[in-house]
Amino acid sequence: MHAIVISEPGAPDVLTWSEVPDPVPGTGEAVVEVTATAVNRADVNQRQGNYPPPPGAPEYPGLECSGRIAELGPGTADSGWSVGDPVCALLSGGGYAERVAVPVGQLLPVPEGVDLVAAAALPEVACTVWSNVFMIGRLREGETLLVHGGGSGIGTFAVQLAHARGARVITTAGSADKLARCRELGADVGINYREEDFAARVKEETGGAGVDVILDIMGGAYLERNVRSLAVNGRLTVIGLMGGRSAELDLGRMLVKRLSVHATTLRSRPAAEKAEIVAGVVEHVWPLVEAGTIRPIVDQTLPLPRAAEAHRIMESSAHVGKIVLTR
Ligand SMILES: NC(=O)c1ccc[n+]([C@@H]2O[C@H](COP(=O)([O-])OP(=O)(O)OC[C@H]3O[C@@H](n4cnc5c(N)ncnc54)[C@H](OP(=O)(O)O)[C@@H]3O)[C@@H](O)[C@H]2O)c1
Repeated sequence: MHAIVISEPGAPDVLTWSEVPDPVPGTGEAVVEVTATAVNRADVNQRQGNYPPPPGAPEYPGLECSGRIAELGPGTADSGWSVGDPVCALLSGGGYAERVAVPVGQLLPVPEGVDLVAAAALPEVACTVWSNVFMIGRLREGETLLVHGGGSGIGTFAVQLAHARGARVITTAGSADKLARCRELGADVGINYREEDFAARVKEETGGAGVDVILDIMGGAYLERNVRSLAVNGRLTVIGLMGGRSAELDLGRMLVKRLSVHATTLRSRPAAEKAEIVAGVVEHVWPLVEAGTIRPIVDQTLPLPRAAEAHRIMESSAHVGKIVLTR
């Protein structure tokens, strides 16, 4: 088969469409014939040599895909899946390829009404947002969520899902255009982080109370302001370190407000935890996608061999939502 290989750590041009060995399904795994995959910030980090795949994961980039089951490995007879089934999948790597092996617990049905190409844009954002905002952050109806980077792949999904489940949504982004898109997707308040201090605006918009949950992608650069922006019993879930990995944490503020700070990465979680998250997404999120309440937001679609161009677009942050790569 062919896959996008990272010839050496570096700029987008190190991504080359090369011939590689076919994957073989292990116990409990399926091989998916890939129709489409989608680009994630983590792929950029992996390409630069800063985010190696976890042990046992395929070495090629790609954390999600859609396609059809081509093969089922040993121990999958009771999985409910058959060869030829259309699926989308949460991967630990290897999506930028013609075929990929994946544990059957990480397969999801393609939601009714979503075409097979667009389905590639769903697994990573749905699983990340569901696990962090709802399983860990326990966001409830009537509470307020602050989503940083509302125009990102993750942000566009978080805004839609939180709005659909009855939360008030405040989001940050770097341009008026992106904030307008976020409002269309259900955001109640948009803050241009280049023009205003988000913490001051959150205080104003919540009457001084703060927000219940924050989904953060900035890490160190936003830690102090995030903690300041949380309401009593607030939950901060950090999923990205685009603003650095360390900063001072004011434990006094945490004691007084009874706050919690969580940080997770989905990719390194054991297969059993991923399967639990996937099951939650199918039960709680897919019905909203099938009803048309939430949709995959695809900025553009490029052929897989042009992955380098897709990475350049992602690094420019000109996109809103996901960049999809097709066979
Ligand atoms: N831990 C996990 O399991 C997990 C899983 C998936 C993704 N992630 C992380 O989630 C983040 C988003 O991923 P993605 O694939 O959706 O990437 P993406 O589409 O490239 O989004 C990155 C976004 O960050 C925005 N941004 C940059 N500086 C910002 C700032 N100071 N404040 C607010 N927004 C800012 C950018 O747009 P503007 O600057 O134009 O607003 C852009 O929309 C990444 O950090 C990624 O590593 C983590």
